[in-house]
Amino acid sequence: MLVVRKAAQTAARKHLCRPFSASHTHLQERKGLVLGVFEKDGEEEGVHLTEAAARFDQSLSGKLSELLKIAGPGLKKGKSRLFYGIHQDFPCVAVVGLGKDSEGVCEAEKWDSRKENIRQAVSAGCRTLQELEVGHVEVDDCGDAKSAAEGAVLGLFSYDELKSKKKTRVTSQLHGSADVDGWKKGVIYAEGQNLARFLMEAPANRITPTAFVNTIEEKLAPHAERVTVKKRSKAWMEEQQMGAFLSVARGSEEPPVFLELHYSGSAVSQQPPLLLVGKGITFDSGGISLKPSQSMDAMRADMGGAATVCASIVAAAALKLPVNIIGLAPLCENMPSGKATKPGDVVTAKNGKTIQVDNTDAEGRLILADALCYGHTFNPRAIVNVATLTGAMDVALGSAATGVFTNSDWLWEQLQQASVVTGDRVWRMPLFQHYTKQVTDSQLADLNNIGKYSRSGGACTAAAFLKEFVTAPHWAHLDIAGVMSNKDEVPYIRKGMSGRPTRTLVEFAARLAHSG
Ligand code: BES
Ligand code: ZN
Ligand code: ZN
Repeated sequence: MLVVRKAAQTAARKHLCRPFSASHTHLQERKGLVLGVFEKDGEEEGVHLTEAAARFDQSLSGKLSELLKIAGPGLKKGKSRLFYGIHQDFPCVAVVGLGKDSEGVCEAEKWDSRKENIRQAVSAGCRTLQELEVGHVEVDDCGDAKSAAEGAVLGLFSYDELKSKKKTRVTSQLHGSADVDGWKKGVIYAEGQNLARFLMEAPANRITPTAFVNTIEEKLAPHAERVTVKKRSKAWMEEQQMGAFLSVARGSEEPPVFLELHYSGSAVSQQPPLLLVGKGITFDSGGISLKPSQSMDAMRADMGGAATVCASIVAAAALKLPVNIIGLAPLCENMPSGKATKPGDVVTAKNGKTIQVDNTDAEGRLILADALCYGHTFNPRAIVNVATLTGAMDVALGSAATGVFTNSDWLWEQLQQASVVTGDRVWRMPLFQHYTKQVTDSQLADLNNIGKYSRSGGACTAAAFLKEFVTAPHWAHLDIAGVMSNKDEVPYIRKGMSGRPTRTLVEFAARLAHSG
């Protein structure tokens, strides 16, 4: 013990004796600047800087554009180039490529490439500065402060909670633009998504149902005036006759929690709420229908629905959106044990429907069934449930888009419009009777929790099962299994759990709020 203490004292003394200029802290006190440059269009002469970059260039009598010309060919989209020592306030300046100034929304692709280019470029610039251990960056709005902020905040995030060596914490701020509001919004949207990423990436022994609830409660504490958090226990679930949810939780030693969030932002307190429901399986082993061990670790993110839903409510509260939202998250583990539900068991959902559980790995639809029944009691104006529901969804669309199954053209339009703004694509999927037949022909019960005749179209069968618990006219089920994790498809999100589509949920709620 004594030896350890002595070693620590020597290390501390050494640190004090180090010349200040070389110290770690000093490195992190340096300020960085991210500025944008467009690709040249046709015969365009010189370099095409953004407004903020052009002003910066002027303040240096054209030095930046001169250096950019010397540095070589024009900067390609998403690439960055560093300049050192050209400005006394900013020892490191990252110039980033924004693509063509003429880019915009592509209707066929439902894709705003201008916004996406800004997110990608700003993220690349911020990360380059982060590698140089710059502690604070100022960022060009690149013509869209909200997207620039999203690029900065999403691009800088990494989950290194449990590592001894962490990436430099970098704070960011808007540079040379009046659109402070747009920037602040972008920060809140992106921080919402980062909260979902944090919850999804964290291992299942850290984010248990109880820990999940505690984290959300903490994040909502500053908004206590407009938010109530109800943590429902197993006894409450029994009272509510949530037999489907309880059948999933049975196999685990971790107590289940049914989280209920009420955000009251509307001036009209009686305004019907938007209901968001998220699948909250904090670990999906498959239960008795055990999954293969390869990649089973990814099932720590099987609470992605709950994470994105709750994080979007945290963001809505931070934005003070004038809308009422109720969030529901049935949270539990899906584990095998002597008490676990067995294939062939029949359970009774809250609405009295009986379900033959033919595969305990199709657990998401069971917990959502009870949550959806309960959700209807609030008379919501719309119901959106979000779930990492089926591997089949990933097979169908991969990480390109969230699959949306909905009984409402209006709701579909709203979600699609929101997703074009955020760059988190959605794609409409069918709710045909064809699939309903697969889940309503059970040998022992009213319903079967897997497709009776075929494994094909698994995402659609799961959706058809959920539909059996919906009577509301505006309901959408978002299957996010395909977008759950990111390798390098979304360039401004590092490899890991994606937190998608949190920003789309926030944008959707904001649109509802402002449409009255
Ligand atoms: N959580 C999984 C779905 C999943 C798979 C999400 C991969 C993300 C990535 C879900 O509970 C599940 O296991 N579904 C089964 C359903 C099947 C048994 C009908 C599946 O997709 O294989
Ligand atoms: Zn499963
Ligand atoms: Zn699952």
